[in-house]
Amino acid sequence: MKIILLGAPGAGKGTQATKICEKYNLPHISTGDILRDNIRRGTPLGQQAKAIIDRGELVPDEVVVAIVKDRLSLDDCKSGWLLDGFPRTIAQAKALDSFEKAEYAINITIPFEKLLYRITGRRMCECGESYHVSTHPSPTCDKCGKTLYIRADDNEESVANRLKAYEQSTAPLVDYYAEAGILKNVDGDSTVDGVFEIISEILD
Ligand code: AP5
Ligand code: MG
Repeated sequence: MKIILLGAPGAGKGTQATKICEKYNLPHISTGDILRDNIRRGTPLGQQAKAIIDRGELVPDEVVVAIVKDRLSLDDCKSGWLLDGFPRTIAQAKALDSFEKAEYAINITIPFEKLLYRITGRRMCECGESYHVSTHPSPTCDKCGKTLYIRADDNEESVANRLKAYEQSTAPLVDYYAEAGILKNVDGDSTVDGVFEIISEILD
């Protein structure tokens, strides 16, 4: 299965991606996670991307396209993959089309006013888990016990820029994948398990 997850910042892409990849045994490829890992390790890519991500703007297309092309060429992607947070512009979608064909573009929708609450309450772990303070008030990760942290771009100013970038550059992908005949809209304004049930019905 070759799946793209679309949705605004905070829509629940990462949360659903973890569950989908576990159930269908797919590699979870999140450009945001790859970029943040490079920032943590202080690589040249991380140094280039840090200020852009912290401001909530988009990293240049050629940079993320190269990351994804490279990642999709690895052996574990031969029979399928899930892309979380890529593509994010029409140019990225066209680039992806030139070397791979997605079978599903799952678009998680949620009312805009709920996104800020979800994002500002998010607590992350280095192991990849993410929680919301309202349902997980503990400061440590259930899976690995490490201390949770708040993402550098999860502040109101960066979130406003991320939402703007979404509206301007990413929202047009909904029409792009509708025209390609692979778009599936999923109501993300439900419980994590409720959203996952809808996605499972589509994929099963
Ligand atoms: P990225 O890491 O992709 O961030 P994003 O798109 O802003 O999305 P988020 O990760 O914030 O949200 P999510 O949809 O994954 O929600 P989550 O499941 O965590 O990108 C970060 C930055 O990297 C970009 O701004 C850009 O600079 C750069 N970048 C990355 N890819 C790029 C690309 N292709 N091109 C250019 N630049 C790129 O959930 C959010 C919260 O809600 C959590 O607390 C979670 O616990 C909670 N939650 C989730 N689902 C539910 C539910 N159903 N009910 C209640 N709470 C829920
Ligand atoms: Mg995410």
